[in-house]
Amino acid sequence: MTRQFFVGGNFKLNPITLDAKSSLIDGLNNAQLDPSTEAVIAPPAIYLIPVKQTLRKDIKVAAQNAYFKESGAFTGEVSPKQLVDAGIPYVILGHSERRTLFHEDSALVATKTRAAIDAGLSVIFCIGETLSQREANETDKVCQEQLQAAVDILKEADWSKVVIAYEPVWAIGTGKVATSAQAQEAHADIRTFLGKAVSPAVAESTRIIYGGSVTASNCKELATQKDVDGFLVGGASLKPEFVDIINARK
Ligand code: G3P
Repeated sequence: MTRQFFVGGNFKLNPITLDAKSSLIDGLNNAQLDPSTEAVIAPPAIYLIPVKQTLRKDIKVAAQNAYFKESGAFTGEVSPKQLVDAGIPYVILGHSERRTLFHEDSALVATKTRAAIDAGLSVIFCIGETLSQREANETDKVCQEQLQAAVDILKEADWSKVVIAYEPVWAIGTGKVATSAQAQEAHADIRTFLGKAVSPAVAESTRIIYGGSVTASNCKELATQKDVDGFLVGGASLKPEFVDIINARK
């Protein structure tokens, strides 16, 4: 089976201009994009609706986070149902910045994933090890523990709504990209785990994308790896080179 190449841009907490003539969005709207790649951008929550209104329709919009409750006294949160109502199809969950800075543990990430899928969202589910965990040879163990929480709460059919983003923490925002061999090895191990923990069919069909200092200059080689099904891009998604990353397989 061929898995559709997927490139996401995670704008994080960075300002974007909505000025139609000078914005990032305008650059994307006018770019020639590989039609076989699924492209998604995740602006800060306050920009989700205006970006969706101005963005070309073949690029999807993702939220960077969502809570697991539909409504109620949860100040500061956005619900999956609200995202669906706003026409947003994807949400990023479990990003290492949320796990570390906002103390989201794997159980909470899994609960949010369950709620997001139940509401009708697709999920970009982030996992990855720190540098000390890699140096202690714990990459597989950490990724598997993070995934196991989702395995425990999802049904087999739910996995068609999940894209796994392998983002080694040591590579995020550091300029220190994983080598294509390191990325391939981690992705293959994640796929093997999915085969055992969920099913061979889910292992075969689930997209596993790489995130961590992806740029226009390193994306092509990473994209040649058989288990690298795309990218989740931070810093470079705010620059014109994001177009080249979307087109990495072109
Ligand atoms: O979610 C994307 C990410 O964390 C990678 O960020 O800036 O290293 O591409 P960056």
